[in-house]
Amino acid sequence: GGGTGGGGTGNRVDNPYVGAKGYVNPEWSAHAAAEPGGSRIADQSTAVWLDRIAAINGVNGGMGLRAHLDEALKQKGSGDLVVQLVIYDLPGRDCAALASNGELGPDDIDKYKSQYIDPIAAILSDAKYAGLRIATVIEPDSLPNLVTNAGGTNSTTAACVTMKSNGNYEKGVSYALDKLGAILNVYNYIDAGHHGWLGWDSNLGPAVQEFAKVATTNGASVNDVTGFIVNTANYSPTKEPNFKVTDTVNGQTVRQSKWVDWNQYVDEQSYAVALRDKLVAAGFDSGLGMLIDTSRNGWGGSARPTGPGPLTSVDDYVNGSRVDRRIHAGNWCNQSGAGLGARPTAAPAAGIDAYVWVKPPGESDGSSSAVSNDEGKGFDRMCDPTYGGNVLNGNNPTGALSNAPLAGHWFSAQFRQLMQNAYPPLP
Ligand code: GLC
Repeated sequence: GGGTGGGGTGNRVDNPYVGAKGYVNPEWSAHAAAEPGGSRIADQSTAVWLDRIAAINGVNGGMGLRAHLDEALKQKGSGDLVVQLVIYDLPGRDCAALASNGELGPDDIDKYKSQYIDPIAAILSDAKYAGLRIATVIEPDSLPNLVTNAGGTNSTTAACVTMKSNGNYEKGVSYALDKLGAILNVYNYIDAGHHGWLGWDSNLGPAVQEFAKVATTNGASVNDVTGFIVNTANYSPTKEPNFKVTDTVNGQTVRQSKWVDWNQYVDEQSYAVALRDKLVAAGFDSGLGMLIDTSRNGWGGSARPTGPGPLTSVDDYVNGSRVDRRIHAGNWCNQSGAGLGARPTAAPAAGIDAYVWVKPPGESDGSSSAVSNDEGKGFDRMCDPTYGGNVLNGNNPTGALSNAPLAGHWFSAQFRQLMQNAYPPLP
């Protein structure tokens, strides 16, 4: 939980997930239920992604924000209910990749404010919805991209350099925090990448500084921040059950294995808890709560190791132990072999507000080949199973499933594999 420190936080509860049902998105639920065996999970709560201005009113006759909130009121009944919204339309979106480039150009900050955030804030502040708990996930990947991909690294992209120098990611995130944080039943969670991105101390220190800067400028305050979310739409396990970052093999730390590559963390829960401490030390509320997106980080099925690997070398040990079966931890698109992770759970551990399903399982991360579209989606070769990779994934194959549709579109084959490899397994 968090945000109990006054300054406009009103009577928010400490952790909005405790004692509340989660909103079931009828559109996602219908996709899930239409798949064989899908009814086993079709009643799970998943986030609603407001991924373009048109999503506020509904795309192609689909549900808009008011329709979702009206349905949420019905599902709520006389109890409490959390609706999860992903705020995802920054200018120059997805600057280090192409699959989810959005509709707004790098300079469109005014449009972001007046045509995206303001209309969302106007709807959320309607008194009719005051009894809902609204958890927002603020702009996945944006601030992490400014930290690692906007200059001075081998992963720098020109688009991220532009977004750092024009300040529009920072201005946009601050504006969203300020406007949405002014609504007393809204709980803002800022995206904080995942351990395989920011887990090195050389990235995490600057990331914490960046989060603190954005939450204290352009009208935002730390009281606008309930917490942070890790692993949004990624595949990093919540816990690696068979090895720890402090393990050694023949006197060598597992940190020097190829897989861990000197990272300080090997899984999301250890990363989330450590990050939380650093954020509080940097000035965020001591009640800060973390979310972990567990929608696709289960890694069950027949390839899941059942115990630690052999003690023949650090690489043998880590590779034999790890449940994360990706070819490289930098792979992120439609990962082959992945499974559903822990079902949404409130307060699963100290400092963790909830395990959540923010990326709706079955929705593609990006197309495996170029597809023309009017959604601003590009073709990122990290979604192409035939691509040999780049510096971001150690020049390894991408591990992406073939025949994937555009980002956000329903990908039946992936959904079926996620169910098959669920961990904990489905009944
Ligand atoms: C991707 C897509 C977006 C979609 C989201 C959830 O980020 O770009 O359109 O809503 O995934 O599936």
